[in-house]
Amino acid sequence: MEIMWPKESNIFGCTLLLCLALLQEGVRSLNLLSVDIPSHVHIGHTVILKCLFELGNDELYSVKWYRGKDEFYRYVPKDKPPGQVFSLEGFKVNQTASNSHQVVLANVGIAASGEFRCEVSAEAPSFHTDSISKKMIIIDPPHQGPKISGGQSQYNIGEAIRVNCSTIQSSPAATLEWFINGKKAPDTALRFYPIISHQDGLNSKVLGLEFYVYDQHFQDDGLRLQCVASFHPFYSVSSEQSITKRHPSLSVLDIKEEKDFKRVGIR
Ligand SMILES: *[C@@H]1O[C@H](CO)[C@@H](O)[C@H](O)[C@H]1NC(C)=O
Ligand SMILES: *[C@@H]1O[C@H](CO)[C@@H](O)[C@H](O)[C@H]1NC(C)=O
Repeated sequence: MEIMWPKESNIFGCTLLLCLALLQEGVRSLNLLSVDIPSHVHIGHTVILKCLFELGNDELYSVKWYRGKDEFYRYVPKDKPPGQVFSLEGFKVNQTASNSHQVVLANVGIAASGEFRCEVSAEAPSFHTDSISKKMIIIDPPHQGPKISGGQSQYNIGEAIRVNCSTIQSSPAATLEWFINGKKAPDTALRFYPIISHQDGLNSKVLGLEFYVYDQHFQDDGLRLQCVASFHPFYSVSSEQSITKRHPSLSVLDIKEEKDFKRVGIR
């Protein structure tokens, strides 16, 4: 009973203060401005996640960081020590470098990808709580260009070119594009295949290209096929294959080329 009294008076007191806080809404209170979280991070890198807020007249109660539903870092100024880490798969929190405004994740792995959220709470009387989240993707791009396969080095006019472009394992799966003589291949020439997911979270992808060869396809240096694998927004790798005519027939284009060549020869 003796314990009950102070507790009840405390609850009553808080309620009064809360009313007071509501009446004073014009007074500046905790304001969560933004989070600074990169959209893409290279595997193995260290990343700093920042939470930008103004306290106004409020006192900070806590800053909590979540990935999805899981809390992984909590900063409570009144706790000793104020910072606390809850380990999650995919990264290690560098506790000495983390504080009320930032959390530092060391050696990020593919499993670290997800929705990151910063939640800030004010002390009594306002108890104001706000949070902002942002998606972060860990990328593990291949360091080689994609592989072009299934083609030959020479084709006859009218023959069908059927080739594949495939990425070795990457995360996330690459976006593949085909270019014919530097121009994006038409959708009708593309052949799509399902993504192959591997156990380690990496993905392989294949994009086919199929079209009939016309004379116009052959430029001075033959027919150029290029495949680009992109990992938006800052990384792409590409590979090229050159194709020549197997039986050059005398076409309008060839005559023109010969004339040009002769003229150069005379000079
Ligand atoms: C943690 O961060 C501190 C300060 O930036 C740095 O000196 C230290 O090497 C880091 N520790 C780890 C394990 O990354
Ligand atoms: C391209 O890859 C697909 C899927 O792996 C395969 O079925 C097809 O035969 C390949 N085509 C060529 C021309 O290699």
